[in-house]
This record gives sequence, structure tokens and C-alpha cells, in this order.
Amino acid sequence: MQAKPTYHADGLLQIAADAAAEAARLIRTATGSRGSLVWEEKGSADFVTDVDRGAESAIVRLIRSRCPEASIIGEELSPEASIGGSGISFIVDPLDGTTNFLHGYPEFAVSIGVTIGPDLVAGVVENVTKAETFTALRNGGAFLNGEPISVSRQTEPSRALIGTGFPFKRHDLLERYARQFVEVSRHTAGVRRAGSAALDLANTACGRFDGFWELVLAPWDIAAGVLIVREAGGIVTDIAGRDKQIAHGAVVAGNRDIHSWLLRTIHDAGAHDIDTPQ
Ligand code: IPD
Ligand code: CA
Ligand code: CA
Repeated sequence: MQAKPTYHADGLLQIAADAAAEAARLIRTATGSRGSLVWEEKGSADFVTDVDRGAESAIVRLIRSRCPEASIIGEELSPEASIGGSGISFIVDPLDGTTNFLHGYPEFAVSIGVTIGPDLVAGVVENVTKAETFTALRNGGAFLNGEPISVSRQTEPSRALIGTGFPFKRHDLLERYARQFVEVSRHTAGVRRAGSAALDLANTACGRFDGFWELVLAPWDIAAGVLIVREAGGIVTDIAGRDKQIAHGAVVAGNRDIHSWLLRTIHDAGAHDIDTPQ
């Protein structure tokens, strides 16, 4: 009988990074012909194209060839798959920022997080339009193009730049979100909505954003980014302030001071009972 291979986190990160690089290459190649793509609407303002699916297929092929026993949870092809018990899981967003991609707005990424059992052990966010690859290994730090990164040291909300995402698929949350937005805008140096949660988290990890919050996100949007922020010294929780699990729901991230201010501020503006599965 052949012995089963043993996987280490750095080997799993390499698989994820190679898969993300391959998907990013495919997406870049498709950029020129995006005008002729068919937009399928999965839900309100939620589109998918052959580029998303083609990128995910390429990722799945590469993972299957190098780690056949892993479970794969992918946004387009296997969204209902569950994170695999005590085994290895790859949690894949083949194109985070599809709407940006479709409009040629250059902010989109490939995101792959890896878990063993319940623990995130590796993550990669590859910015498709810039030469930027964010990676992290559990207890091994976070990196941008191989250089260590850390969250910002900003402690003053009035100087902080905050990333966010709008709950555009949950119109019932828009007004509550708007109240949070008003309070955060009122007390900070600025709020940005770029359209890729994976990049928002990566930008928080390297200190470009001092904090980030969004009410409605999926496991594939955040799996890699959560580890990258934590390994960069940041905090990532749900809206109740509990350590964020890789599940559907809200995310609040940042350096320790800005995270706790952000959590308090959005709470005071009305946030209770938002963090239910969507
Ligand atoms: C979306 C992006 C966006 C966030 C949405 C996500 P997609 O992912 O991350 O920033 O606001 O909630 O669904 O659909 O482009 O992969
Ligand atoms: Ca996404
Ligand atoms: Ca996507």
C-alpha cells in the first residue's frame, strides 16, 4: 500500500499560490474580450461569467493534481461543499470583484484560503491587475511579494482610512448600514469602497487601511484575507466581537485600536442581530 503524503502548511500555500497565479493569468488573458462576455445574474447585482467559472476550473484542476484528498469549497462550482472535517480544505474565490472586472475597474483578485480541520493555515490573495501577491502562513507571518507586512499603527480614528463594502445584495440592511457609514465617515479621515473584499482585507493587513467592515460576506471572500490580517498582527471578528469564523456573515477588521473603535461605532449606530447566516 502506498503511504499517504503528509502536507505541511508551506506546501499547501505553494499549491494555493500556484493555483492563484494560474487563475490570475487566465483572467488577465480574458480582460481584452470582456466586452463580449455573457453576464449571468445569480441574484440582485450579483453576476457570473465564463471567466469566473474558467478560473475556478483551472484552480480545481491544479489542486486535485497536487492534493487529491482535499475538499474544495469554490464560489461558482461547489459553494455548498462543507469545510472538510479534520482534513484539508481549499476555500476558493476565483475572481473577487467580478463587477469591477466586468467594468474594467482595476480592482479584482483571486483568493484562496486553506484550512486543516477548523484552522486556517495558509492564504493567498493575488491582485490580478497589479504585481501584488499577499500570502500568509499560520504562525509564520504575512507577506506582500515575499516581504513581511504588518497592520498600521494608527490609533487615532480621526486619522484613520477605513475600507468597507455595501450590503448591495441585502436591501433590508442598507439603511442600518447607512447609519454606520455616517458615524464612521464623521469620525475618520475617509472611507473607501473598492469592490473586492479580499483586497480590502489584504490592504488592511499591509496598513493601507487602518480598518475594514462589511456586513454580508461569504467564506470564499474572506478565508485568505482573515489569515493575512491576523498574521500581520491585526484583529478580525464578527459584529459581536467574536473571532471571525470562516462562515457567511459580517466582518470587522483592523489594528487593535481601530478595530475596537470600529466595532463600538458600528454597534452604537445599530448593528445587533446582523451576523446571522445569509
Ligand atoms: C464581492 C466582492 C465585494 C463585496 C461582495 C462580494 P465577488 O465578491 O468581494 O467587494 O462587497 O459582498 O460578494 O462577487 O465579486 O466575488
Ligand atoms: Ca467574492
Ligand atoms: Ca467571486
